[in-house]
Amino acid sequence: MNVNGQHYRTIWPNESNGKIIRLIDQRFLPHQFVIEEVGTPEEMATAIKEMHVRGAGLIGAAAGYGMYLATLSAEPGASFEDDLAAFAAKLKATRPTAVNLAWAIERQLKAIGAVKGVDEKRGAAFEMAQQIADEDAEYCRRIGEHGEELIRRLSAEKGGGPVNILTHCNAGWLAFVDHGSATAPIYAAHDHGISVHVWVDETRPRSQGSKLTAWELGEHGVPHTVIADNAGGHLMQHGRVDAVIVGTDRTTRTGDVANKIGTYLKALAAKDNAVPFYVALPSSSFDWNIRDGLKEIPIEERGSEEVSHADGWHRGEQIEVRVTPQSSAAANFGFDVTPRQLVTGLITERGICQANEESILRLFPEQAAQQSLALPKESE
Ligand code: MRU
Repeated sequence: MNVNGQHYRTIWPNESNGKIIRLIDQRFLPHQFVIEEVGTPEEMATAIKEMHVRGAGLIGAAAGYGMYLATLSAEPGASFEDDLAAFAAKLKATRPTAVNLAWAIERQLKAIGAVKGVDEKRGAAFEMAQQIADEDAEYCRRIGEHGEELIRRLSAEKGGGPVNILTHCNAGWLAFVDHGSATAPIYAAHDHGISVHVWVDETRPRSQGSKLTAWELGEHGVPHTVIADNAGGHLMQHGRVDAVIVGTDRTTRTGDVANKIGTYLKALAAKDNAVPFYVALPSSSFDWNIRDGLKEIPIEERGSEEVSHADGWHRGEQIEVRVTPQSSAAANFGFDVTPRQLVTGLITERGICQANEESILRLFPEQAAQQSLALPKESE
C-alpha cells in the first residue's frame, strides 16, 4: 500500500545488499515513519518479540526472513543444522498465539532440509522467505476481492449509502506484507467507488487500532472514526454498524477464532444485534491440527507495563506515562477466542465459508485429505 504516495511492503530485502532485511518499525507509527535494517537472526527475533513488526501474516514473513538470516550466520559444518534448529525453537517462542510464526518456520526448515550444501541451503532459504512474503501479499489481495462482494451487497441494501464497518486491532496491511486481511475488502470496495466508513476500535493496551489502523486507512483516504474500545456495542444497538470484519492470529479447523483481546466481546454484541461478524484470514492462519480453540490455542500474556502505561506524542517526541495507581497490579492478556457459533463467515483467499469444519474443509480439501487420519473425531 502507499505511504505518502509511494508503494511499500511492510518487509523486504535491501535492494543493494540481500543480507539485510528492511522493515517498517511499527513502534513509531503514526508519528514517525521509521525503516529498520535487520542483519542478524537475533535482531529479527527481537523485532518480532518487541513488536517492531506484528500481526499474523507479517510475523510469518518476518520469521521466514529470520530463518534465512540464520542460514547466513550459522557456521558451515557439522553443527549447521543444529544451529538452525536451535534458532527455530527460540523464534517460535517469541509470539505464541500467531500460528503463522510456526507455519513459516516449518516451511523454511523443510526447504532448507531438502537441499544439500550450505550455499544451496542459503539460496533455498532466501527463495522460501520471498515466496512466503509474496504469497501473503497475493492471498490478502484475493481476500479483498471476495470480501468486496459482501460490502457491495450491503451497499446495495442501503441504496448506496455508506457501509459502516467496525474493526478491531490492526488486521491491515501493516499486519501482513500488503493489503491486510480485514482491511483488504475495505480497500477494494473503496477503490471501486463503494462508499465505506470504518469504526476503528482503539484496541488498548497497545492501541494498534488508533495508532496503526487509523494511520493506514488515512494514508489510503478511507473515511474512518476512532472509537474507544467499549463503544462498539452502543453503536450496534443504534444501527450504526452494518458489519464487523476482524482478522485472526489463529483459527482452528473447526472455525474458532483467536484474535486480539476484546474481539470476543464485539462478537457477542454483534450476535445480540444481528450484525454480521466476519473474520478475514489467509489459509496460513488456520491451525489445521486443532479443533477446540478455547482449550488448545495458547494465549500470549505480555508485560503488565503495557496496561499500566500508555505512550503518545508530546511536543515532538514519543513519551510514556503511567495511567494506573503505582500500587495496582495489572494483567495483560493479548488475545481471546471467539467461538465459531458467533462467526457469520470466514473470508479466505479461496472464497467465503462458514465457520465450521465441513465448510472450511470444502474450501481446503487437501487439508482434509492430509490430516483426517491423524485427528480424533470431535465426539471422542
Ligand atoms: O499483538 P499483535 O498486534 O501482533 O496482534 C495481532 C493483531 O494485530 C490482531 O490480533 C489482528 O487482528 C490479527 S493479525 C492479522
